[in-house]
Amino acid sequence: MSDAPARTVHARYPEHLRQQVDDYLDGLWFTVGDSREAAEAAGTEGLVEAMRYSLLAGGKRIRPVLALATAESLGREPADLMPAAAAIELVHTYSLIHDDLPAMDDDDLRRGMPTCHVRFGEDVAILAGDALFAEAVRLVCEEQGGGPVVQAGILREISRATGVAGMVGGQYLDLKGAGAGGADALAAMHALKTGRLMAVSVHVALVLSPPPPGQDAVYRAFARELGLLFQIVDDILDVAGSEEELGKAVGTDERLGKVTYTSLHGMDRARELAAESHARATALLEQLPGDVDDLAAVADTAFTRQS
Ligand code: IPE
Ligand code: IPE
Ligand code: MG
Ligand code: MG
Ligand code: MG
Repeated sequence: MSDAPARTVHARYPEHLRQQVDDYLDGLWFTVGDSREAAEAAGTEGLVEAMRYSLLAGGKRIRPVLALATAESLGREPADLMPAAAAIELVHTYSLIHDDLPAMDDDDLRRGMPTCHVRFGEDVAILAGDALFAEAVRLVCEEQGGGPVVQAGILREISRATGVAGMVGGQYLDLKGAGAGGADALAAMHALKTGRLMAVSVHVALVLSPPPPGQDAVYRAFARELGLLFQIVDDILDVAGSEEELGKAVGTDERLGKVTYTSLHGMDRARELAAESHARATALLEQLPGDVDDLAAVADTAFTRQS
């Protein structure tokens, strides 16, 4: 049995932040002046449609909400960080579009709808993912406040979290079966493929509003823990979740012979490891001086989610 302390699970996800994120994303048309008309005039409306289809299909928005909640805990207005938070959701959505492609996980359902390549074709889906990444960079350059030093700092964080030492490197390790190397190799793979995009959501807030070094280290440890927790639960839900609630297929990992937390440790131990990770994340938050209620709710949601 786990000796992780029992903790109250609050599950009061900050819906107001999620709403602000959804409203902001809905305004993005990826053209000069952000208009549908401009996309039509340029003949790229089919590409924009595919990008917006996947982006606006729903989703928990946990990464941008985490970014905004971190900014709030540091005494900032959520709106101050919205372009960077949205940029991370664009990168995440690109990662999902490519993750679902036949050459990767070959999944047909995402966010409760046919996957991008099923709806628009593989060629357009690849381009939609590519464009979402580039548009994320543009969003930070053109819309993020704080001046060029903050913008460059945020871009550095996002590009590091996305690249070889981040999500893409983790996806490569996943494809090559690196998880078979044992528990440490699996945790390292999860830290890259999922953990880095989750953690960078905290990091961009630290760039905008740097806390004293002691607090900075606690925020970073929390961010790392949350990233691992999120993918452990994702592995559990691939076995024990429902397709209807998740909005994506279950059983993909087993179908592809992936090494996951459940296949390596067994379901009971995977659940214990998730509980221990959640307890560590919550304990870290208790060391921070600001209002961390929304951050605690995000951690609780990462742990208890069924979708
Ligand atoms: C799914 O991410 C892919 C992983 C990195 C595990 P989410 O569970 O955050 O998916 P959405 O954004 O809510 O659709
Ligand atoms: C994907 O992990 C992580 C990404 C970088 C997209 P999974 O392949 O487990 O994500 P799901 O289960 O398809 O959402
Ligand atoms: Mg995958
Ligand atoms: Mg997948
Ligand atoms: Mg999964």
